[in-house]
Parts: sequence; structure tokens; C-alpha cells
Amino acid sequence: MDKIPLHLAIILDGNGRWAKKKGLPRNAGHAAGARVLEDMCEVVWNKGIRYLTVYAFSTENWNRPADEVSALMKLLRDYMRNSVKRAMKNNMRVRVIGDKTGLDSDLQESIASLEEATSQNTGLTFQIALNYGGRDEIVRAVRKLASEHDIDYMRGLTDKELGDALDTADIPDPDLLIRTCGEERISNFLLWQLAYSEFYFADCAWPDFTEAELDRALESYGSRTRRFGGLVKGEE
Ligand code: FPP
Repeated sequence: MDKIPLHLAIILDGNGRWAKKKGLPRNAGHAAGARVLEDMCEVVWNKGIRYLTVYAFSTENWNRPADEVSALMKLLRDYMRNSVKRAMKNNMRVRVIGDKTGLDSDLQESIASLEEATSQNTGLTFQIALNYGGRDEIVRAVRKLASEHDIDYMRGLTDKELGDALDTADIPDPDLLIRTCGEERISNFLLWQLAYSEFYFADCAWPDFTEAELDRALESYGSRTRRFGGLVKGEE
């Protein structure tokens, strides 16, 4: 495969439907999804992808039934506590984006310690969006800038300055977004960063997403011409 995305973003959709189809509780779907995701970190690195960002829990997911929210938080807590060994072995840098102040303090501490332990790793940068919403991220960034600068700075605010105030500062924008399970929506994910990304929609539910499915998405990406609003050579 010749053209590989540097940064892949994934909306991990369909865990609930996958579980229901198997007669399992929804939470079993999330647990299966988390296992697939951990393996996928290694698969994407081996394809040449250098940044992976996944939508694990949105600012709107708090509206789910309390037992599903606590099962998801437990999964994420377990991941933050137990994955340091595998992350170090794979030289993977883990970062969490989203409003961490809205999370329980023990979870915030586990996140900080995993981020710190892996911060010098030079392999895959794995970004987990947790209590994340694209609109919320932009509002937080604007509020932060307004609290640090005067009105003249805010009046002249540039695209670059706002981008640098987002949770994803210093991470290149995604080249490709994959969403599983047939839905074709962004659902408030990386609204700013997906401005020029290519989109790929896979029919299978996230827990059924395999390396072969990834290859199909990468093949589709490889066949596209990216334009970033301009024209490419030969089109002028
Ligand atoms: C969407 O499926 C999925 C989620 C809201 C949660 C995704 C989270 C994980 C896979 C766990 C992440 C784990 C780690 C280790 C970072 P859905 O519940 O909306 O499925 P449905 O549309 O079929 O109901």
C-alpha cells in the first residue's frame, strides 16, 4: 500500500448492537470493543500509522443509563491502571483529550500517571477522547485564551492560535476518519481537526473490526486525491 494516513481517527460504534445480536448485555460489547482496540494499536503501528485517536466517551454519553456509564468508566479506569506495561513494551505514548476535570479524581490521577509514564515513548501516539466533545473543546480553548490574553489579542485571534489552544495541540490533524457500524455522522468528534480529513464508513460493528477491515479502509484512502480546498496538479 503506497499512501498511508499519518493520523487515523476512529469512532468506535456498534458495541451495543454487537452485544444485543449475541444476546449479551451492552457492557459485554464495550468490553469486547476495548480488547479489539488494544490489539488495533499494534496493528495500525505496523501499517505505518503514527497517531491513533479514538472516541471512547463523549460529553453526551453521560446521558446513558447509570449502569452503562459506570461500566464504561470501569473499563477506562482498568485501562489507565493496567496498560502501562504493554504501552512501554510497544513504545506507545498515551494521551487523553477531553474535559478531564469532569472525571472522578482517581481516574484523573490514573490518566496523569499513564500519560507521564509514556510521555517519552516514540512509537504510536494513542489519543483517547474521554468526556470529549468537539464543541466543548473549542469553547474551553476560547475561554482559556480569553482568560490569558487581552481583548485586542482575542479580536485578532488566528486559526493557528486557536488550533494551538485545543486539546490536540502539536498533533497533526487526522488524515482519515473511520466510523464503524453503518452510521454516517461525526457526532461531535474532532470538529475542528476533521476539516479536511477523508471519511470511511465500515458496516461492521466495532468489536468485529479486523485487520482485513482496516486494510479495506486504507485501500480506499490510498486511492483518493486529497485537495484541502485547492486543486491538485493536472486539474488547473
Ligand atoms: C459506541 O457504541 C461506543 C461507545 C460509546 C464506547 C466505546 C468505548 C470503548 C470501546 C472502550 C474504550 C476502551 C479503551 C481501552 C480506551 P454504542 O454503545 O453506541 O453502540 P450501539 O450504537 O450499537 O448502541
